[in-house]
Amino acid sequence: MTTALDATQTIDIISQMRTATLPAHEKLDNLIMASDLFSDRESYSRLLIMQYCLQRDLEPLYHDASLKELLPDLESRSRLHLVEQDMADLGLTLPQSEEDTPALPLPDLASNVGWLFVLEGSRLGAASLFRRASAFGLSDCFGARHLAGPAEGPGTAWRIFAQTISTQPFNDEEKARATVGALAAFDHAAALTRQYVDGAQKG
Ligand code: HEM
Repeated sequence: MTTALDATQTIDIISQMRTATLPAHEKLDNLIMASDLFSDRESYSRLLIMQYCLQRDLEPLYHDASLKELLPDLESRSRLHLVEQDMADLGLTLPQSEEDTPALPLPDLASNVGWLFVLEGSRLGAASLFRRASAFGLSDCFGARHLAGPAEGPGTAWRIFAQTISTQPFNDEEKARATVGALAAFDHAAALTRQYVDGAQKG
């Protein structure tokens, strides 16, 4: 028999990751929003380079066979080609030194779900960043393609992701590993933000 206690003991994997990463998200959100990235295209370029590095480093997730079994549309979710086009639009060259391309640990399905959670979740804030970029002439055809999101809206892509992952039979240990992965992904995004957004601002 399922009791009320049983129900509270079963924490949804998405809620668990969301709750655990709230402070990391808030810190990153504040850092980005305080960095004066939306006054002109030159300032915005710092965000673009950070986004490029993040998408590039996590691109292997979108080709991971086990994740693809869970999410058949996984490959089409990658935004790397869009951010590359945005950089070309603005005449930016891709950073390519070895220290810029760390080999990220993508060890097991549960951890990889955690890393993917962060990249897919970042679509939710992207819609608002897209509106800001539109103010200085960027669009889904020029410079802000990676922020524009799918035609059906970022909410739909996110809902499908969250529902699919939530209905998988992950046990508590796997949920914990996913959460560690999500926290590591936020750490990585924060390091890139400090390097390309915040650090670049301070010169
Ligand atoms: C690399 C990862 C992420 C980055 C860089 C990021 C960045 C941001 C930024 C800068 C905002 C603020 C936009 C504004 O104030 O106008 C924001 C908002 C938001 N983010 Fe994130 N985020 C990330 C991951 C996530 C994740 C994993 C989730 C949830 C699972 C999430 C959910 C949201 C939501 C719901 C908002 C508010 C959207 C709105 O008000 O329209 N984000 N994010």
